[in-house]
Amino acid sequence: MDGRKNIWIIANWKSNKTVSETLEWISIVGPQLPQIEGLKVVVCPSFTALNEIKKSISNNSYPLLVGAQNISPFPAGAYTGEVAASTISDTVDLAIVGHSERRQHFAETDQVIEDKVQLVLKSDITPLVCVQGVETPIPDGVSLVAYEPIFAIGTGNPDTPENAAIVAQQLKDQKGSSLEILYGGSINGDNAKQFLVNETLNGLLIGKSSLDPIEFTKIVMIASSVLS
Ligand code: PGA
Repeated sequence: MDGRKNIWIIANWKSNKTVSETLEWISIVGPQLPQIEGLKVVVCPSFTALNEIKKSISNNSYPLLVGAQNISPFPAGAYTGEVAASTISDTVDLAIVGHSERRQHFAETDQVIEDKVQLVLKSDITPLVCVQGVETPIPDGVSLVAYEPIFAIGTGNPDTPENAAIVAQQLKDQKGSSLEILYGGSINGDNAKQFLVNETLNGLLIGKSSLDPIEFTKIVMIASSVLS
């Protein structure tokens, strides 16, 4: 019997997939998703595909949550081009905040990330905060964190499950044992199990491998077998 409350399997598509490609993905993944208590599968598509994927999930009752990959650091108002948390709170369950690509390409600072987390929480959306190591601050009120070392993202060179678990434990020691810590960085259908069997970790944040519906479903199935 697995001691964990939840295992999260989260697809971060990044800047990929048209609306029709999104619908193709969901038509393959959706019908295969198992309904298991504690298994939380989330897809984070582009903003442009959020509504269509949400409609497909609702119409077919797929056990799948929807997330945003980013969120505005401002409330709704005169901020051209931004998507405020309050404007998508009826569409998304979760929002990724502080991904290292946002820090690198969009100059996001710890303060910006803190501001985003507060707005996300105010809109009853779960923030998933990405940290690059134990030194990355985690804003108050956050319960879900992804440890994503930079060297592992998109490189085919994941961290070891042992080290990911050590970092996860250090983060829990800092912020409280109820924190759920995911691992992300070069996860695929072949290495996912080694991470998922480690009970210090609560799941995976998956970039490249989540784009392929077959590969992603394979990882979900591994998670479901570990949990049940
Ligand atoms: P990757 O990306 O799985 O393509 O390494 C993970 C992430 O950036 O969330």
